Amino acid sequence: MGFKWTMMLVLCVLIGGSMGAKPNKPIDVPFGRNYEPSWAFDHIKYLNGGSEIQLSLDNRTGTGFQSKGSYLFGHFSMHIKMVAGDSAGTVTAFYLSSQNSEHDEIDFEFLGNKTGEPYILQTNVYTGGKGDKEQRIYLWFDPTKDYHTYSVLWNLHQIVFFVDEYPIRVFKNNKNLGVKFPFDQSMKIYSSLWEADDWATRGGLEKIDWSNAPFVASYKGFHIDGCESSVNAKFCANQGKSWWDQKEFQDLDKTQWRLLRRVRDKYTIYNYCTDKKRFSTTPIECKRNRDVPRNSRKEN
Ligand SMILES: *[C@@H]1O[C@H](CO)[C@@H](O)[C@H](O)[C@H]1NC(C)=O
Ligand SMILES: *[C@@H]1O[C@H](CO)[C@@H](O)[C@H](O)[C@H]1NC(C)=O
Repeated sequence: MGFKWTMMLVLCVLIGGSMGAKPNKPIDVPFGRNYEPSWAFDHIKYLNGGSEIQLSLDNRTGTGFQSKGSYLFGHFSMHIKMVAGDSAGTVTAFYLSSQNSEHDEIDFEFLGNKTGEPYILQTNVYTGGKGDKEQRIYLWFDPTKDYHTYSVLWNLHQIVFFVDEYPIRVFKNNKNLGVKFPFDQSMKIYSSLWEADDWATRGGLEKIDWSNAPFVASYKGFHIDGCESSVNAKFCANQGKSWWDQKEFQDLDKTQWRLLRRVRDKYTIYNYCTDKKRFSTTPIECKRNRDVPRNSRKEN
């Protein structure tokens, strides 16, 4: 609660200052415009002429859907209302992924919980088939109560994860430091709801209670504004010409960096960048992504 007010205050104070890097407002379209079911078709329900859908998970199967097109860069967003009540052991995912073996991937994963206990949002980035860049945060609202917007801005310079208008993670292109960055494999957008009670909730301690099935997650929006390309495309035909390529989207502005820092400071549960057990030396991209704690680097 406190967070929301602080956010509004920060926004009000800073709004007169350097703005400008806000992605274009998503345009809501019906599911069928951009997406199609990928498995367990009978577990997807269409409402309001397909402008809203519900995925359901029961003891037989989960379900999922994927974009019709493949994209190299762009802005992808979804309004989602997570499984309500006892959702322990369920995972709702929204992600971009290329289709080959050394694949790239940009992930949002929402880990359910017992009634009244907080969801965890886990994000990850895969480059050339390698992940190991998990971050986990709590959200500052109950994601089962209302629709919230989860989106990805991806261009040649950075990947930004947004929750509503707040950036919650940045992965910059650090190719000059030898860090791989997704840039030459087109991706499809996916979403799914499935059972992962071996790891999801309290590290696998909380099992799914099937007597609460079906578990239902709702979706709206289905916004895609990307450079559509073939599955095997190596570059985007309009590279450099789209709105998301322009200067103001090549880095976060000052306000966004501050909002991001607030989210990190207040809501981080886990960050691979500070996991000394896994990485005895801090992964090289962490500093430029400003993922290492304040006291270990110089502030601007
Ligand atoms: C799955 O759920 C249905 C409906 O609750 C129940 O009748 C059935 O026995 C369950 N099947 C298994 C394998 O648990
Ligand atoms: C579930 O709730 C417990 C207890 O509040 C918490 O430790 C955990 O981080 C929450 N989220 C998940 C996904 O386990």
